[in-house]
This record gives sequence, structure tokens and C-alpha cells, in this order.
Amino acid sequence: MRVLTTVEDVRNQVKAWKKEGLTVGLVPTMGYLHEGHASLVQRAKNENDRVVVSVFVNPTQFGPNEDLATYPRDLEHDAELLESLGVDILFHPTPEEMYPGKARTWVTVEDLTTGLCGKTRPTHFRGVCTVVSKLMNIVTPDKAYFGRKDAQQLAVIRQMVKDLNIGIDIVGCPIVREADGLAKSSRNKYLSESERQSALVLSKAVAEGKALVAAGQTCTQTIVDAMVRVIESDPTAKIDYVEAVDALTMAPVTEIKEPVLFAMAVYIGKTRLIDNFGSDEVNDAN
Ligand code: PAF
Repeated sequence: MRVLTTVEDVRNQVKAWKKEGLTVGLVPTMGYLHEGHASLVQRAKNENDRVVVSVFVNPTQFGPNEDLATYPRDLEHDAELLESLGVDILFHPTPEEMYPGKARTWVTVEDLTTGLCGKTRPTHFRGVCTVVSKLMNIVTPDKAYFGRKDAQQLAVIRQMVKDLNIGIDIVGCPIVREADGLAKSSRNKYLSESERQSALVLSKAVAEGKALVAAGQTCTQTIVDAMVRVIESDPTAKIDYVEAVDALTMAPVTEIKEPVLFAMAVYIGKTRLIDNFGSDEVNDAN
């Protein structure tokens, strides 16, 4: 595995691969990798001749009072894991390499970014779309891989790729969970032992919602209310949002007709965690 830090070095390597007719998969990450990231890399390895993983804590997607400075980092561990998974390039640029000089160009996806996480993080998706566009332009992959835990991010990136005619296949990969149900996240590291227990209300709410969908409930408010009750059973948990939205447009929906995304963000102490499920996942399982 080559560890590259400059845009130029990545471009030269990818150019050489393309001359040989090889396909390239990109897995964009912010590092502090866990089994969720590993599952994206494994999928990328299965579907491409070469795999590039970026590890870059992107400053433009953090708000002024968010955890940019304390976001967990462990490049040594990340490099070991990626090497063991057979990754070809670990791209680890500095913020100056990714954002040289004052940027005047941003990529903004409208509508899909105003609700859910966009309500409390108004500049977040602009930062995500801008950095993902830059990574796509640098690596020019055939396919790019994203986790479904960030379901709104995945929908926003799919919309961006469609609207801007970016010829890259976007592959969404299933949420990977701990044995007790907690969705894997780099931010789980922030949780104390007791908060770690409290955090289970998110996956329990997912299980409750799925059970209602499986039982034939189609009224989204009934399902959301039941999920809220599960979360509020733990006094440590403070709901940011629990909502039912169209899985493609992120617009609120009252009745399950097309696939609906049930998404939540919940504070456990100071840590904001997200989780979700799609109504179509439940039907697929039946
Ligand atoms: O999902 C993430 O880790 C980040 O938002 C991404 C896609 C790597 C962009 O910085």
C-alpha cells in the first residue's frame, strides 16, 4: 500500500492504472476506521481492480461549535487496517493540500440538505459535497462507496452525482452494528461506559420501528411516536430529530407508499449519534 499525501501523486498513480485498463474504487473516510469502514473497503476490493481510501478530517463540514479539533484520529491504526485489507493507496492529505488558498467555489445540493441533520448543521452538506467532489475529481474512480448509516449524506451525494453528470457509480453499503445493536461510529469513542449503555436506545428504536413496519403499519407518525417513546425511556437521551422522509428526496411523508427512511439523531450526553432504517429493508427481509 502506498501512503500518498499530495493530489499530484494520486493523479499520477491513477493515470498509470487507467493506462493498464484497471478499474478504481474510492472509499472516502475521515479516518479512525472501524468495521463499518472495513465493509466498504471489502466491497470496493471485490468490485474494482484497485482501491483508494482517503483519510481526511474535512474541516469544511464541521460547524463552528462542532468537534473538528477533538474528532478522533489514529493514522497508524488506520494504515495497518487498510494494509491488511489490501488497499492500494491511502490518501492522507493535509487541509492545506485539499484547500490551498481561499476557496470561492462550493458544491451545494438544495432541498435534500435543509431537513434532518441539515436543520442543526446548516453548512455540513456543503462541506461534504465540496470535499467529495474534490476527491472524485482527484481520484476519478469508477465507483465510490458510502455507508447507509449516513443515509441523508448518501441521498445528497447521489443527487449531486446525478445533477452534475458525474460518471461515477455510487454504492451504498449496509450499516454495521456492534453485537448489541449499536451502529458502528467513530464518535462512539466519546461515550462513557454508562452512556454506551444509554446509546442502545437508538438501535432499540430502529428495532421497534422495523417491527411496526413488518406488522403492516403504514402511518409514519405512529411509527415515529413509538420510536420516540423508546428513546425517551432513557433520561440521558435527548432527541435532535426522529423523522420519516421519502428515501430519495428527504421530504417528510405521512404514509408508507414509496420507500421511507426513518432517521434519527440523538444526543447521548454531549455525543450526537445517528441511526436509521429504510421501510424497504423491512419488506426485503420478509
Ligand atoms: O462520511 C464521512 O466520513 C464524511 O462525511 C466523508 C464522506 C468522508 C466526507 O468527508
